[in-house]
Amino acid sequence: MAIERTFSIIKPDAVSKNIIGDIESRFEKAGLNIVAARMLHMSQQQAEGFYAEHSERPFFPDLVAFMTSGPVIVQVLEGENAIARNRELMGATNPKEAEAGTIRADYAETIDANAVHGSDSPESAEREIAYFFDDSEICPRTI
Ligand code: PPS
Repeated sequence: MAIERTFSIIKPDAVSKNIIGDIESRFEKAGLNIVAARMLHMSQQQAEGFYAEHSERPFFPDLVAFMTSGPVIVQVLEGENAIARNRELMGATNPKEAEAGTIRADYAETIDANAVHGSDSPESAEREIAYFFDDSEICPRTI
């Protein structure tokens, strides 16, 4: 199976609830290695650029306001089928539709305050990783 990289965000609601450790533990137990990670408080410009594909959607201002409301963890996860695996662990975007045992079913409140983000395709993963990380900041396992 292919080793992939995916981009992940632990969103402001999850950081504020002090569940960073639980979320990271779920990724690690599922065989996803954290190969880059940084905490930051996104600027309006950073959030608007990151979510540019949604700029015409009615929820765009709310999404940007939420993503700039507090610190987040941006990170790169690496492993077999990392993109799909991460999305399975996250559950559906709308927590009301998320399967039991997923991060969003357990922790998310609403469709915007939904705890985590994960790339939805190899193309998005590449773009999203490059939006926040230089190649030199990504540290694949050597042991
Ligand atoms: S799409 O393109 O319709 O499939 O959009 P989707 O992947 O469902 O959602 C894209 C991101 O927008 C957020 N979102 C919202 N934010 C605020 N209000 C509303 N109503 C809303 N609907 C969707 C959703 O949390 C997604 O964020 P990410 O970070 O991509 O998971």
